[in-house]
Amino acid sequence: MSDVIRTDLRGDIAIVRIDSPPVNALGHAVRAGLAEALGRLASDDSVRAIVLVGEGRGFISGADIREFGRPAQAPSLDVVIDALENSAKPVVAGIHGVALGGGLEVALACHFRVSTAGARLGLPEVTLGLLPGAGGTQRLPRAVGPALAVKMIAGGAPLSGEQALAAGLIDEVVADPTAGAEAFARRALAEGRSLRRLRDDDSRLAAARADRSIFTDAATAATARNRGLDAPRACVEAVGWALDLPFDEALVKEREAFQRLMKGDQSKAQRHVFFAEREAAKIAGLPEGVRPRPLNRVAIIGAGTMGGGIAMAFANGGVPVTLIELSEAPLKRGLEVIRKNYEASAARGGLAAEAVEARTKLIEGAVGIDKVGEADLVIEAVFETMAVKKEVFAQLDAAAKAGAVLATNTSYLDVDEIASATSRPQDVVGMHFFSPANVMKLCEIVRGAKTAPDVLATAAVAARKAAKAPVVVGVCFGFVGNRMLGVRGQQASKLMYQGVAPQQMDGVLTGFGMPMGHFAMADLAGLDVAWRSRQDHGESAPIEDALCEAGRLGQKTGKGFYQYAAGSRAPLVDPEVETLIRQTMERLGLPMRQADDAEILERLVYPMINEGAKILEEGIAARPGDIDVVWLFGYGWPVFRGGPMFYADQVGLKTIVERLAHYAAADGDTSLEPAPLLARLADQGKTFADWRP
Ligand code: CAA
Repeated sequence: MSDVIRTDLRGDIAIVRIDSPPVNALGHAVRAGLAEALGRLASDDSVRAIVLVGEGRGFISGADIREFGRPAQAPSLDVVIDALENSAKPVVAGIHGVALGGGLEVALACHFRVSTAGARLGLPEVTLGLLPGAGGTQRLPRAVGPALAVKMIAGGAPLSGEQALAAGLIDEVVADPTAGAEAFARRALAEGRSLRRLRDDDSRLAAARADRSIFTDAATAATARNRGLDAPRACVEAVGWALDLPFDEALVKEREAFQRLMKGDQSKAQRHVFFAEREAAKIAGLPEGVRPRPLNRVAIIGAGTMGGGIAMAFANGGVPVTLIELSEAPLKRGLEVIRKNYEASAARGGLAAEAVEARTKLIEGAVGIDKVGEADLVIEAVFETMAVKKEVFAQLDAAAKAGAVLATNTSYLDVDEIASATSRPQDVVGMHFFSPANVMKLCEIVRGAKTAPDVLATAAVAARKAAKAPVVVGVCFGFVGNRMLGVRGQQASKLMYQGVAPQQMDGVLTGFGMPMGHFAMADLAGLDVAWRSRQDHGESAPIEDALCEAGRLGQKTGKGFYQYAAGSRAPLVDPEVETLIRQTMERLGLPMRQADDAEILERLVYPMINEGAKILEEGIAARPGDIDVVWLFGYGWPVFRGGPMFYADQVGLKTIVERLAHYAAADGDTSLEPAPLLARLADQGKTFADWRP
């Protein structure tokens, strides 16, 4: 008998239970236990039907991702799947929670499937840079048709139990997976239902075999926004085999494609991202037994773009919000923008009309900081200057209830100084959301010198409720993300003053997989913010200043480093800017030079990695993976490159050290000299993944 597979008999029906916490992944013990149980039940004459269910949070979450990249241990999942499908006795899957990846493939091999209404059924392998490797690309199209199958497999999003019923993926929605599946099995026996083996049932393929566009249109839609990823294309191709090849031949090709993707760099990076995100959510150095404080209401100070976005993120997670402004007019405007945003998602089909109402109802407007009242967490999202922030925190100190967590959404400023404006610095923490806050998944949780452990824990729980990936960081200018962005910006600017065109640099970054280049991002943020700050500090940047003086403040004026067609955000190269740069360079007497794309990439990305090494050594981030999560979810670093620190390990730290030293010497730029930690790891032939503080 197995520890993780239990079998009990209810009359002539065997209930096989998978009990492998936390998520019933299909690790070796589960596969071996299932193979053993199915073999035993096949020859047990007292058993006439088999029900397969998961204990705990769900049915099965998929293959055990931790086993990927290691030597496979028999029995393979295929053995279990064959035993299920070929069983002479009816097998019914009773699904609740999740049936994902290999979990859904197991269910697809059963003859019948029932599910609770709220369960999630899907094949998310594509998000790990893979395709379903245990028959999913062949059985799902036979269950739901190739158009929906390609959407699910290349897109990765699951169906609910209700949707699965409508699609033909399951036979019935049930209240309880075990009782429902057992009742289904009894009925199937009583009615003498023939066993449905999807491998032998091509009925749902016929239409697309006759009219290929049914499949190709869905495939095109599913991969329309594919930014350099290999897996979605492989998924489409594999679903196509269901139409073109005999089942067994297609299975062999599916397995080969799975192995190929598994060995590739993209899947390695995407698997790293899966674990790094979960690791980052665990706060390093938190004392045992620390519990988060209660979180029933959030108050947000400031109803501008940032405050409104944060309010939406919490409302989306079902948390009531009080949105506070200093007067009626901006509050009204902020609430209207929120409603319009929700209505726009509903119009695009992303949100049900009832959800628009429910979510807007969760956001109450109020005027005056004294209205923070009973909020358990207050997040300040006002103007980014220290004086304003301190003023708000002094008022919060007087108005917020005892024990409330007081968070600042500052992107750069010293959280300790902000905390000093209160009599309760232990309750103050940074929660740095990224714009647009209802969309971007990152929340940097900034740990101040005096921040209490349970405050940190509360901030992380709050971020998760708002569907954010929390990463705890320390206090420094710009924290992790903006500090590294700043370093990249300095190098981009330096290259521009050597004559390298902004559009060439942006092209290199987008070619690498970033959603936008440095200069397009500056146009989006507005060039006037930095211009004002330079003026305040008596500094100048001749090219950038000249752009601003010419009224080119970025997207908001239709012109910046680029020009923009009316109503469009697409950056277009502007010959006027090229002239402006050339003339400024001539005036300054600076020589223009060319740089190739490879040099540009190294000069923009390696300094970020160098800064990442300093951030680790200073303890600003606890793990290299935390830095990766910041860049993946805050700045759109391409997932198939795993984050800057993972990318550094792929390139090899020795190479990075050599190139940085080379550029430091070539430019006389001491900021490019390899950081001590980077140099040390490279010297020892190690990687960031090897590093422990
Ligand atoms: N393998 C190994 N570990 C897994 C896992 C898996 N498939 N799924 C989750 N875990 C682990 C997580 O790493 C985490 O571990 P720690 O507590 O040590 O950090 C723990 O289980 C709990 O996971 P979450 O924090 O994510 O819990 P959740 O409740 O928020 O979400 C979940 C649960 C929806 C199952 C989510 O974990 C998830 O989406 N998992 C991955 C599902 C997936 O991609 N399956 C496909 C696998 S590939 C495959 O199956 C290939 C094939 O064709 C054979």
